[in-house]
Amino acid sequence: MKAARASADQGELADPGFSAAVIDWQREHGRHALPWQNTRDAYRIWLSEIMLQQTQVAAVLGYYQRFLARCPDVASLAAASPEEVMQLWSGLGYYTRARNLHACARRVVAEYGGQFPVEQALLADLPGIGRSTAAAITAFAYGTRAAILDGNVKRVFARVFGIEQYPGIKPVEDALWRRAEALRPDNGIERYTQGLMDLGATLCTRANPACERCPLRARCVAHATGRTAELPVRKPAKATPEKRAAMLVVVDAGQVLLEQRADSGIWGGLLSLPEVDGHAAIEVALPDPLASAQRFGAVDSIDSLLPLTHGFTHYKLHIHPRQVALSARAAAVDGYVWWDLDKIGAAPLPAPVKKLLAQLAAPSLF
Ligand code: ADE
Repeated sequence: MKAARASADQGELADPGFSAAVIDWQREHGRHALPWQNTRDAYRIWLSEIMLQQTQVAAVLGYYQRFLARCPDVASLAAASPEEVMQLWSGLGYYTRARNLHACARRVVAEYGGQFPVEQALLADLPGIGRSTAAAITAFAYGTRAAILDGNVKRVFARVFGIEQYPGIKPVEDALWRRAEALRPDNGIERYTQGLMDLGATLCTRANPACERCPLRARCVAHATGRTAELPVRKPAKATPEKRAAMLVVVDAGQVLLEQRADSGIWGGLLSLPEVDGHAAIEVALPDPLASAQRFGAVDSIDSLLPLTHGFTHYKLHIHPRQVALSARAAAVDGYVWWDLDKIGAAPLPAPVKKLLAQLAAPSLF
């Protein structure tokens, strides 16, 4: 079934004009003198591809030359200490790459006698080498007809083919891989692969793509429909989590009870209304405020006030105020103060608490 689908895809999605346009453009306008080009040395190609993951060519150049001067082959890298590898990588960022690089070199020496495997699946099984990086290495080092699909290529495909779904989700990514495989040329895989990378990095950039110079412009859905700014579709924003807090509004003899909040965390250092159970998940039932209220005196009555909602950057808080009337005050409780309601405007309160108390006290006091 899978094989049948794959071959149907090859037929349906194939488009020899696509790769021809990329190859012709690469020959004329692509990059030809990067230090990891014009070699078949898998070690040098692998090192460059790992450094170029998430990092632009200009930032990689100096690191690449220094790294090669110290570790000219996979055996010398495998024999280096972890500290030395980290030092050579220091400043390039994404340091998991350096740890994986070292582990990969050691495996290539231990398991493959110091020769990078030729088969893409074996390469992709090594630390730090994903499917696309394995394809790039086999294409550049061995001329294998392997399909790449890194972030830049996803952007090119999303625009040219007008993909209206976020490419980070599995079915969309799977469909892009099928296209990547169907579009591979029969000849010239190295130039085509480099051409796709060059196009994504230099013309089909995320912001302000240079469509007027693009060899794929005539077949680009995003260009034709004026949607280059919208494609690829960005990662959908996560729904803001919601929490809830029950707060006590203990009013007695013209004063309201306030809690001193810890210096760090939400509303750090401010005064606020006493919370019954902190900011809890919305699914959790609202807590019974009685036990909490009894710390401050003999409770006469507890009434629910209208809830209000406050938006933080990371979550939405539903505040459920509980108005408490006391028949007698308890002794002072550490971390809580009684504040004169007629001076409430001077209290350092969070905005939603201010709003809540404004409904109780005369608004002019704020
Ligand atoms: N980005 C990833 N691989 C690359 C390569 N071989 N040349 C230029 N940019 C790249």
